[in-house]
Amino acid sequence: MEKFLINGGKPLIGRVHISGAKNAAVAILPAVLLSDEPCIIENLPQISDVSTLLSSLSKLGAEIKTINKTSVSIDPRRASYFVVTKEMAQGMRASSYFLGALLGRNNKARVAPPGGCDFGVRPIDQHIKGFEALGAYVAIENGMVDARAKELRGSSIYLDMVSVGATINIMLAAVKAKGLTIIENAAREPHIVDLANFLNSMGADIMGAGTGVIKIRGVEHLHGTQYSIIPDQIEAGTYMVAAAATGGDVTIENVTPKHLESIIAKLVETGAEIEEFDEAVRVKMTGRPRRCNIKTMPHPGFPTDMQPQIATLLSVAEGTSIVTEGVWEGRFRYVEQLTLMGADIQVDGKSAVITGVKNLKPAPVRAVDLRAGAAMIIAGLMAEGQSTVEDISHIDRGYELITEKLSGLGADIKRINDYDAPSAKLA
Ligand code: EPU
Repeated sequence: MEKFLINGGKPLIGRVHISGAKNAAVAILPAVLLSDEPCIIENLPQISDVSTLLSSLSKLGAEIKTINKTSVSIDPRRASYFVVTKEMAQGMRASSYFLGALLGRNNKARVAPPGGCDFGVRPIDQHIKGFEALGAYVAIENGMVDARAKELRGSSIYLDMVSVGATINIMLAAVKAKGLTIIENAAREPHIVDLANFLNSMGADIMGAGTGVIKIRGVEHLHGTQYSIIPDQIEAGTYMVAAAATGGDVTIENVTPKHLESIIAKLVETGAEIEEFDEAVRVKMTGRPRRCNIKTMPHPGFPTDMQPQIATLLSVAEGTSIVTEGVWEGRFRYVEQLTLMGADIQVDGKSAVITGVKNLKPAPVRAVDLRAGAAMIIAGLMAEGQSTVEDISHIDRGYELITEKLSGLGADIKRINDYDAPSAKLA
């Protein structure tokens, strides 16, 4: 079992390059199935979620050619299978996007129920409601989600809650349906806009992505394209918080500052100095962070995927902060790990009351999910001395070359096997 070994207590200093956005990539890769011609996808992050999806595409019959570390060519013409098994999906949330993409391509899809990070119940009722409105029949049979349609027809769909996944899945199913589809109360995340731009670059007719109402006029064919994925908002935010939390000075390059507004606003409240450039932001922190309250919300609100990282920063702030989770039912499972490092956090339902302590103490901790794992790394970098982070496969799902990028900023972090651990050597 691999883990991260961190010798914390040093400020992060320097420049870091942000990779392509995981949550855009995991929507765009299945979307390639809708094309009648090969597509070239660039700026793909080198993360395990991307390799899992590429291997699923290949098992469905698509031909994948690696162009370089971050670009692939995908020829979907021979993708004749429509079943994504549990083994192929590997518990990923984004495997559900094969439902919309295969339904849009073949009028039929059978996909293992999506897994992903455990934040409590993660239903897909809004995805199913959307498919049904487009004329599909959806059933759960033998533990698989089965969706079929004679023909998909455009429809008006009002989402009962803002859902990234349902918005994406309905876009995928509707893009080649007959007539006009309107998604109301749609999610507005940057990756929704990126998916719409990708589909439009193949000849789709999608308007309004990035607003609460998306209009999709179905087209018969989608042609090949060459498309570069946007920078990862959450990876950028994670390095911004890591810079502030270690009292560092980091320029985060290859970002879209507009996607980072809510994160910038909150970091400024904690006392960080932020400079914005065209495609970079510089984050500098001197002294102890100030307290602040945060509520996570769908975009353009403060992203839930930054909640564990910013809570970790606030755990050493002067004063008491309240962090309220407005998207997921159970996204405070990491708090137990943070308290092992001396944080003083009381969780009451959807809110965490964080009483700032002076310092975190090094400890062995676990990554309970992807962003929680990133938060544990930040905590390890903050605490003077040696910490370890276990269960790092969660982190590898979404952060490209994290040890290399952090080492480039002066961090002392290594990926080790259990038998390399200093305690094992002593024994
Ligand atoms: N919801 C329903 N019914 C549905 C769909 C969603 O009740 O049919 C609820 C969920 O239970 C949740 C809320 O609506 O309370 C929002 O869920 P959403 O569908 O927006 O989440 P998702 O599509 O499953 C994506 C990201 C998550 C991110 C959320 C919110 C991907 C692959 N995942 O999940 O990212 O937290 O949107 O922004 O895009 C991460 O990257 O670490 C991650 C977990």
